[in-house]
Amino acid sequence: MDMPTSARPLDLVSDFPAIPDGWAYLDTAATAQKPRAVIDAIARGYSQTYATVHRGVYQRSAEMTLAFENARRRTAAFIGARSPEEVIFVRGATEGINLVAQSWGGTFLKPGDRIMLSVLEHHSNIVPWQMIAERTGAAIDVAPLTANGRIDLDAMAAMLTERHRIVALAHVSNVLGSVLDARRAAALAHGVGALLLLDGCQAVPRMPVDVAALGCDFYVFSAHKLYGPTGIGVLWGRGDLLEAMPPVQGGGAMIDKVSFEKTTFAPPPARFEAGTPHVVGVLGLEAAIGYVEAIGLEAISAHEEALVRSARDALGSLNSVRLFGPDDSAGIVSFALEGVHPHDVGTILDESRVAIRAGHHCAQPLMASLGVDATARASFGVYNGPGDVEALVRGIERVRRIFG
Ligand SMILES: Cc1ncc(COP(=O)(O)O)c(C=O)c1O
Repeated sequence: MDMPTSARPLDLVSDFPAIPDGWAYLDTAATAQKPRAVIDAIARGYSQTYATVHRGVYQRSAEMTLAFENARRRTAAFIGARSPEEVIFVRGATEGINLVAQSWGGTFLKPGDRIMLSVLEHHSNIVPWQMIAERTGAAIDVAPLTANGRIDLDAMAAMLTERHRIVALAHVSNVLGSVLDARRAAALAHGVGALLLLDGCQAVPRMPVDVAALGCDFYVFSAHKLYGPTGIGVLWGRGDLLEAMPPVQGGGAMIDKVSFEKTTFAPPPARFEAGTPHVVGVLGLEAAIGYVEAIGLEAISAHEEALVRSARDALGSLNSVRLFGPDDSAGIVSFALEGVHPHDVGTILDESRVAIRAGHHCAQPLMASLGVDATARASFGVYNGPGDVEALVRGIERVRRIFG
């Protein structure tokens, strides 16, 4: 398979010990494989430098606290945050969105207020808003998609009113790979006095992200999709917004003073980080950031764009394949094979050592709007190359032969 000449193919698979020769891992949108640099940082964290943070008076703990807060600074710089205090470590994007919905939404949403989502959202950017809408009496509106699977910002502009208090959208769709015009979404939200939350799960591993340049108010992502560990993620919020938000979990580390008469809370980020944090997870996240920065997010973006283009060209030339999403999707190709359930596609591809995702991808409303129960999805990472696209296409040809 020819890669377009503009692409600079990366050849990094040897950095990933869990990818054996001949295995085409095409499920990075679910979770990314881990490079040796991240595995080593985690191993070092537990085998050499381990201690708790923010509590110990002994040197090891003081050093770990420095390393932990340094990782927060590194994370802030990675996404263009003004200050490390705007970076809250959470379990993942799901927890980040729930935190905003419960804390900000629980405080500021009133009956009659409206929340704007879109058809293509992951369930983790739908259900937390439904839960808080139920609690506060707010209502949810859903922006439709354009014919090629982008959030239709013209339609959204026509739907937005001064009753809308927050707009929450995926920066990149986990099913279609479509990239949001985030700056325009921010301008539209702010134009009616609403905030913009971006779900950056699929964007952060695939393109440079600068929250200040995007003009959003909250941004969330999960480390495990960025070649880092599971159980750690980031909620970035504008400093003045976080200042005004109450904690959603109480416990150690998030307080200023505790008495049975009255407890006062620490400023952000500590206010939102109750309990002992995932210390080594944060070090793993920092290593993952270092790993992708060394490659360059622009180079990663160009690499995945080339893989998507060759996969779409090859799959699109098979007349029984239906492709979803726009041609310039970021790193993700969803498709269906006429007359074959995506689960069968996935199972047969697995026999050919090609790992894809098949299902609703935690986006049932999107499936309904596409008129399907499920899709097959191939998603790329820095370790994939033209050989993986060839293996995918060979595997799909085998599925077609098996199903006649
Ligand atoms: C767009 C998007 N949002 C949110 C999530 C939820 O991420 P996590 O399960 O890591 O919290 C995912 C994960 O699949 C996703 O792709």
